[in-house]
Amino acid sequence: MNVKKAIIPAAGLGTRFLPATKAMPKEMLPIVDKPTIQYIVEEAIESGVEDIIIVTGKGKRAIEDHFDHSFELEQNLLDKGKFELLSEVQKSSKLVDIHYIRQKEPKGLGHAIWCARKFIGDEPFAVLLGDDIVKAETPCLKQMIDQYNLYNASILGVQKVDETEVSRYGIVDGSKIDKRLYKVHNLVEKPKQLEAPSNLAILGRYILSPRIFDILSNQKPGAGGEIQLTDAIAELNKYETVYAYDFEGTRYDVGEKLGFIQTTLEFALKREDLRNSVLNYLEALMEKELNDSVNRN
Ligand code: G1P
Repeated sequence: MNVKKAIIPAAGLGTRFLPATKAMPKEMLPIVDKPTIQYIVEEAIESGVEDIIIVTGKGKRAIEDHFDHSFELEQNLLDKGKFELLSEVQKSSKLVDIHYIRQKEPKGLGHAIWCARKFIGDEPFAVLLGDDIVKAETPCLKQMIDQYNLYNASILGVQKVDETEVSRYGIVDGSKIDKRLYKVHNLVEKPKQLEAPSNLAILGRYILSPRIFDILSNQKPGAGGEIQLTDAIAELNKYETVYAYDFEGTRYDVGEKLGFIQTTLEFALKREDLRNSVLNYLEALMEKELNDSVNRN
């Protein structure tokens, strides 16, 4: 069966970016001039996904507005002859059919995914987390769908992370069966560095068998008191083979401040209209900072 549906959970409170996220969804924070969630939606579409469901929560209306038409704004840009901007604005509303469901209580990622069960039904589906943006020649999810088509089993998108960082992720205990593919033996959500079975971290991309919903229905809270998707996948692995795929590409962590700043800078430097001025600015800034620190010492 083909993977045609995707879930994008976007119900999180965004506490790492307060106060910016007090009245605005963190998924709408822009990298240069595009909200982070649009990068995720575009990756899903470029990977062949036809239907997307975004799991939202309280205060997330701006996401729905972003992927909808904005008649006043479009008319205004048209009247002013700003056709390039007009087509950019229209792009987000023309992307694909996006559906929405609310997670009524913040009970964790596993629970958010479970909220979309009726929309998915009995077919394999993708999950894309908004904190991880991946730049790759072949979109990250497409690489995983290609693997799914070969193995017909659940697949987790992974990459190695620094050993000091394992406690931020779902970590895979697996054995390598091909150049980039691992057979999963077990999974641990946010282990302590000394207890981690490896440094292979799940980085926000999954293809899952619909059987996960039955498991999620009975899943007890795990790390952080939340219903964890990782725990449910570890359970699924007892009944069906689960693989982990070390995807190609650079992954950007836009879910924390430093990663967000790094992503903004790198993406700006890749833009022709910004590259030179940003580089010049950075050079001048570095020089000033160095001089200042020499003078201070
Ligand atoms: C979630 C998952 C974790 C995964 C991570 C990737 O954690 O629970 O397994 O490794 O996303 O970004 P969160 O960052 O939401 O705490």
